[in-house]
Amino acid sequence: MKTVILYVSKHHGNTKRLVDAIANAHDDVDTIDVTKLGKDEYPDLSEYRLIGLASGIYYSEFDRSLTRVAANVLTQGDMVFALMTYGSKNNWYGKDLDSICRMKQAVLLRIYGCPGFDTWGPFKLMGGVAKNHPTDEEVQGALEFYDKLVEDYGEPIEAEFKKRARRRAQEAKIQRGGLLMLIKRTVNKVFDTFSR
Ligand SMILES: Cc1cc2nc3c(=O)[nH]c(=O)nc-3n(C[C@H](O)[C@H](O)[C@H](O)COP(=O)(O)O)c2cc1C
Repeated sequence: MKTVILYVSKHHGNTKRLVDAIANAHDDVDTIDVTKLGKDEYPDLSEYRLIGLASGIYYSEFDRSLTRVAANVLTQGDMVFALMTYGSKNNWYGKDLDSICRMKQAVLLRIYGCPGFDTWGPFKLMGGVAKNHPTDEEVQGALEFYDKLVEDYGEPIEAEFKKRARRRAQEAKIQRGGLLMLIKRTVNKVFDTFSR
């Protein structure tokens, strides 16, 4: 399954451990560190069947630059999954991504989340919370989550991707045909003018 995971993991690299586990186990999974993108740089994801969005939770949200990029690159019918790590669990986490996917008419299939070592603000004074997380089991859990997602949705995703690719090729053909007609009409007009 040709997959790309866009990620931000700026606190302790907790989320990156989940991303790396998936990417290292699968040759067809690419990763993009969103912090390395330019301010107006939006990667073309049209070759990917699955798009992963991964980050720590910062102030109850996914990273803002990740959600900005997601809002710019997602297109209608994209298949999306998310990975997150947090200091303490809250059912609200991920709702921001869900809203963006709905707005872009992309499909947010599933979210995987687990605790990640947190030394933000006052927690630093106590030596941090969620120490030693993600654990090896939680990292393995992310890999199993991904494999199960591909097992459950692989075939319909591939079929839908082929349908979209055919539609895109058709639209491009129509656009090219339209341009050709325009050139023909212009040439004929010029020819008419000079042959009068
Ligand atoms: C600025 C900042 C804000 C955070 N806000 C929250 C929060 O609102 N809720 C929460 O559960 N954890 C919060 N955390 C903890 C992180 O979500 C957690 O440590 C996560 O694993 C960080 O992932 P990373 O190492 O991939 O960046 C915050 C951490 C930082 C640095």
